[in-house]
Amino acid sequence: MTTPQEDFLRSFHAARPAVTVRAMAHGRAEDGRSSYEILRDRVAACRRVLDLGCGDGLLLELLAARGPGAGRAASALAGLDLSPEELALARRRPCLGGADLRLGRAQQLPFPDGRFDGCVSHMALMLMSDAERVAAEVARVLAPGGTLAVVVGGGAAGGEAYETFLRLAKPRFEAAPEGERIPPLGDRRLRTREGFDEVFGPAGFGPVEWETVRIDLTGPPERVWATVGGIYDLGPLDPAVTAELRGRFEAETAASALPDGRIPCAMRVHIATAVRQDGGPRGGQMPGAPGGQGPAPR
Ligand SMILES: C[S@@+](CC[C@H](N)C(=O)[O-])C[C@H]1O[C@@H](n2cnc3c(N)ncnc32)[C@H](O)[C@@H]1O
Repeated sequence: MTTPQEDFLRSFHAARPAVTVRAMAHGRAEDGRSSYEILRDRVAACRRVLDLGCGDGLLLELLAARGPGAGRAASALAGLDLSPEELALARRRPCLGGADLRLGRAQQLPFPDGRFDGCVSHMALMLMSDAERVAAEVARVLAPGGTLAVVVGGGAAGGEAYETFLRLAKPRFEAAPEGERIPPLGDRRLRTREGFDEVFGPAGFGPVEWETVRIDLTGPPERVWATVGGIYDLGPLDPAVTAELRGRFEAETAASALPDGRIPCAMRVHIATAVRQDGGPRGGQMPGAPGGQGPAPR
């Protein structure tokens, strides 16, 4: 089964594999870590870890590398993504040779019950449709006491290039003809603490720990464009409109350039951590297993 949203995501990532890493991997929180490194550290105590929507495998590589919060055998790691092109890049990472990398949908995980102690997801969970089904599947493959740690987008961070981009881009997105617009993606509840608990609580997770962090993405103009230009809405947009938008964006942000030529840019991310409780989902129902053994609780 697939959906128009997933078809869109597949074709977007086929044309731009590693787009998120190019957009965000250089970003740093106040403590010097990237948002990927923050997630790595959230599951430092977990041995067997699944990355949901793993993209090109950067986070899995960080989980496998030596150092604090890392150092797992690749065989303890698994990644799942619906994009073959992203997954092909993950498979090329030498340190992930022994990792279990699967093409598939988070709504139907190809892993047995209790297979993992930790599940991470960087900028992917909020794109997934049928959030209750995803929550039930994550609960099923996590052992009781397992940790779920995710990063979801939190928007622009105030007064920088990201706001300029959104101010310039929104009217162009709104004026685009139907065929040049993206389908509604994911479930907005997963971008708020209350919404997250509403989805993951009934699946068997304890209350979420929610933190909002500013990620500094300041850099040379081309890199700042790689960050803001990674947005899904640009995928179907007329290339001439995108080129005109980029020209306006670069002209406006040039005025705010630092003495070394870098453009100030920042975004917020939310970091959500929740623990899989003993005893299954609230109300005693077991989540639906993959392969049509009954629907997940909704
Ligand atoms: C914004 S990218 C993030 C990739 C990677 N986690 C990173 O941060 O570099 C979102 C990823 O989630 C994947 N994805 C979205 N919905 C999915 C689903 N339902 N099941 C599996 N993967 C999904 C996409 O194919 C894409 O690779």
